[in-house]
Order: sequence, then C-alpha cells, then structure tokens
Amino acid sequence: IFQDLTEIVALEREVRLKERMAALGEMAAGMAHELRNPLASIVGSVQVLGGDVRLPGEHEDLMEIILRESQRLDQAIRDFLVFARPGPFSAERTDLVRLINDSVRILRNSREFRPGHQLVTRFSAPEVHCEIDVNRAKQVFWNLATNALKAMPGGGTLTIRVEPSGQGQVLIVFADEGIGMNEQQLDRYFQPFQGGFNDGTGLGAAIVYRIVQEHKGRVHVRSAEGHGTEVSVTLPVVVGSAAPAGSPSRQTRAENRPLQTARS
Ligand SMILES: Nc1ncnc2c1ncn2[C@@H]1O[C@H](COP(=O)(O)OP(=O)(O)O)[C@@H](O)[C@H]1O
Ligand SMILES: [Mg+2]
Repeated sequence: IFQDLTEIVALEREVRLKERMAALGEMAAGMAHELRNPLASIVGSVQVLGGDVRLPGEHEDLMEIILRESQRLDQAIRDFLVFARPGPFSAERTDLVRLINDSVRILRNSREFRPGHQLVTRFSAPEVHCEIDVNRAKQVFWNLATNALKAMPGGGTLTIRVEPSGQGQVLIVFADEGIGMNEQQLDRYFQPFQGGFNDGTGLGAAIVYRIVQEHKGRVHVRSAEGHGTEVSVTLPVVVGSAAPAGSPSRQTRAENRPLQTARS
C-alpha cells in the first residue's frame, strides 16, 4: 500500500510539472509572438530609411548589421515558436521522393546553398510513400540539410538517401563531408539551445528530435571530426504500425533517447 501511495504522489507531481511546463511554454510562446510584430516594424522602417538616404560607407555597414541581426532575431523567435508551440500533428500519406525533390529545389535557391556545394539524392524507388506530417517533415529536411551545408563552408557534397529499412520502415540519410563533430559536440547535438554554428539558435536538432518522436521514428547521428556527419532518420511507413509484435526492446527504446550517438 505504501508503494501505491508513493506512486500516486509521483504521478501527481509529474502531472503538475507537465501542466506547469505547458503553461510556461504557452507564456513564452505568447511573448515570442508579441516580439515579432515590433521587430517587423523595425526592419521595415530601417529598410525604408536605407533606401532614402545615401549613407557614408561605414554607416551603410551599420545599416546592414541592423538588418542582418534583426533577421537573425526573427529566425530565432520563429525557431523558438516551432519548438514551444508545435501546433496540431496531422499525418497524411505522402511521397517522400517528391517532398525531398521539392525541398532540394528550394534549398538550391536559398542563401544557405553556396558555390562549391553539391546536392545529390539517391532514391531506392521512384516513389516512396509514408504517413507523415508534411510541414513537420519539411522542417526536418530543412534543419538537417542546412546544418550539413553550414558544416561545409568551403563546399562539399550533401547526399540524401531514401531507402526501405526493415519491415514497414523507411530510412532517410543526410550525409555531408563537413567539419564533423567531436565527442562533446555529438553529445549535445540534440539538446536545445546548444549550438556551435555562429548564426544558429541551437534548436534545429532538438526540433528534429521532437518531430521524429512524434512520428514514432528514430534518429541517429554519426560523426567524424574533420570528415563529415551522417544523420539517419527511420520512420514507420504508417504511423503507429512500425513497432514489431510485442513490446519494444530495451535496445529500441534506448535508441530513442537524444544522447544516443555513435562515432564512425
Ligand atoms: N552536419 C553537421 N556537421 C557538423 N556539426 C553539426 C552538424 N549538424 C549540427 N551540428 C552541430 O550541432 C549543433 C546543433 O545543431 P542545431 O540544433 O541545428 O543548431 P544550430 O542552430 O547551431 O544549427 C550545431 O550548432 C553544430 O555545432
Ligand atoms: Mg541548425
């Protein structure tokens, strides 16, 4: 009986903590939302001013700093909003090949894509269907692909592979030839607000982790410092159907934890 009581107390405590976290998240998200409007006004006004007056060289640089830093702030707030208030999850049958090809096209035309960068895709079939939340899947693509490009400032190839992986699973791999990560960086990879790229918020990988979890999938990172990084995402073809008969093994659950990493 004593055991039962403590369990109830622990459960109550957990529920209360969850409620508090949710309330805090809501408040923070609300605030982040409020910050975006004045920020947009500031950027708009500065842009108008910049177009009106001819500034001496040095002041033009300052103007650019204002715009660049405002954009960075806006991106950080947007990342935070996605993290704190993800919105309803809605999975639908989607062709991954098409989704990735579309995303690659956008990426090629983005400012993250620099001369010297190459994007290669390898698909095991002309169409690979699975049940995913399309907006979230795009987010995963964007976060992993831009990380890979940022890790190759001097150029290099990002290879994206899609192939079947065991029963009812699909594997998506993002492999780059970039700077890679050391053990410490790899350990922190999924942790929010831990970032080594100087223009990031450190939320990208945490968002990827959360989204993959929502899809009942797994994400695994391997990296070799100075050589490159490989991020593998395994998704069930149909959400909720991938678990083999019986309960998942300890091993499988351990793989779900954020800090599970391996080095090549
Ligand atoms: N492909 C990669 N190669 C090397 N390092 C990476 C790669 N992807 C992520 N990282 C490291 O992990 C950190 C966390 O990534 P992320 O959560 O996306 O944050 P950021 O906002 O910095 O991009 C990055 O700052 C970087 O140090
Ligand atoms: Mg990132």
